[in-house]
Amino acid sequence: MWSAFVILFICVVGTTYGEDWSYDYETRWPGQCNEGQRQSPINIMTRSALVDRLGLHIRGPLAFRGYGSANVTALNNGHTLKWLLVEDEPAPFVSGGPLRGNYSFLQFHLHWLSEHAIDGMKYPLEIHMVHVKTGLTVDEALKRPDGLAVLAIMCQVSTGGASEFALGEIERFFTKLVERHAEYPNTAVIDLTRLFSPEPQSFYTYHGSLTTPMCQEVVTWIVMDKPLTISDTQYKQISRVDVGRIDNYRSLQVADREVYRSVASCANVALPGLFAILASLLNLSSSLSGIMSKGVCVMVNIKKKFLGDRIKDCKMVL
Ligand SMILES: *[C@@H]1O[C@H](CO)[C@@H](O)[C@H](O)[C@H]1NC(C)=O
Ligand SMILES: *[C@@H]1O[C@H](CO)[C@@H](O)[C@H](O)[C@H]1NC(C)=O
Ligand SMILES: *[C@@H]1O[C@H](CO)[C@@H](O)[C@H](O)[C@H]1NC(C)=O
Ligand SMILES: [Zn+2]
Repeated sequence: MWSAFVILFICVVGTTYGEDWSYDYETRWPGQCNEGQRQSPINIMTRSALVDRLGLHIRGPLAFRGYGSANVTALNNGHTLKWLLVEDEPAPFVSGGPLRGNYSFLQFHLHWLSEHAIDGMKYPLEIHMVHVKTGLTVDEALKRPDGLAVLAIMCQVSTGGASEFALGEIERFFTKLVERHAEYPNTAVIDLTRLFSPEPQSFYTYHGSLTTPMCQEVVTWIVMDKPLTISDTQYKQISRVDVGRIDNYRSLQVADREVYRSVASCANVALPGLFAILASLLNLSSSLSGIMSKGVCVMVNIKKKFLGDRIKDCKMVL
């Protein structure tokens, strides 16, 4: 009688909380997944994202320490390829940007196609670097709104020699981890900075959830929009990895909340534009003195020329 009870109990726990979930049945995911209000991933609309020029939310640049070498193990966990930092090693950590305090690197994994979309566009691959607030255990972090920080790096596919570089250190794992639940036999030291976006300070950030069960709403997302380039061959190898399906991304979730973008993410458009228009106006005021009515016309034209529609891409927060 007692053993029958125990077996039943294990079965129930196994189907509700275990690894037994599938991208085929997202509506059956447990926990916060179908009840939460701040779920991830989302479609990031660049025109609605707020630029925090006063630094109220995004306080200064992101600072990365210790990402140059990480001793990791790797596995195919049935849903993704995942590289975990070996325990008891000093962890790389990130601070700055929207983060309050330090966040220690835990693991990174891959999603093909990307989970986040930017203006409705998906990338072929998205890398997630998962971090836990320094000093907290993962269990503690899963109970705090600021417990985790995930850096998301978008990848685009190209051909040619340079495109092999970014994933060069991890591609040897792909063929070894093709089979579901395969584990890489050794530890390996890898350079995580090769997986960074070419412009890591150019990002969008918002508060959301884990994108797999239990979908806890404890994640500060930092989505880097300037994509890393990977090779076509590497992408083919990743797509051959058996995760039970041809892809492993969660559907887009309702996005009705604030998304911030770093000043660097619009530096190439709006900031030079603003400086240019100021300089031009100074030029104008000296060269056009005396022809005031004409001056106004010229100023309007210049404004259009330098700023055009692009200024609208960067909404100010005051
Ligand atoms: C990586 O971690 C393993 C397991 O703890 C250890 O045996 C190995 O020496 C470490 N490698 C390096 C380069 O630190
Ligand atoms: C973050 O780490 C740095 C370097 O170790 C340390 O000086 C700083 O005090 C830490 N910040 C917090 C909030 O713990
Ligand atoms: C200002 O005028 C000078 C002389 O016409 C020109 O060389 C310069 O590029 C102008 N500067 C700007 C910012 O338009
Ligand atoms: Zn992920």
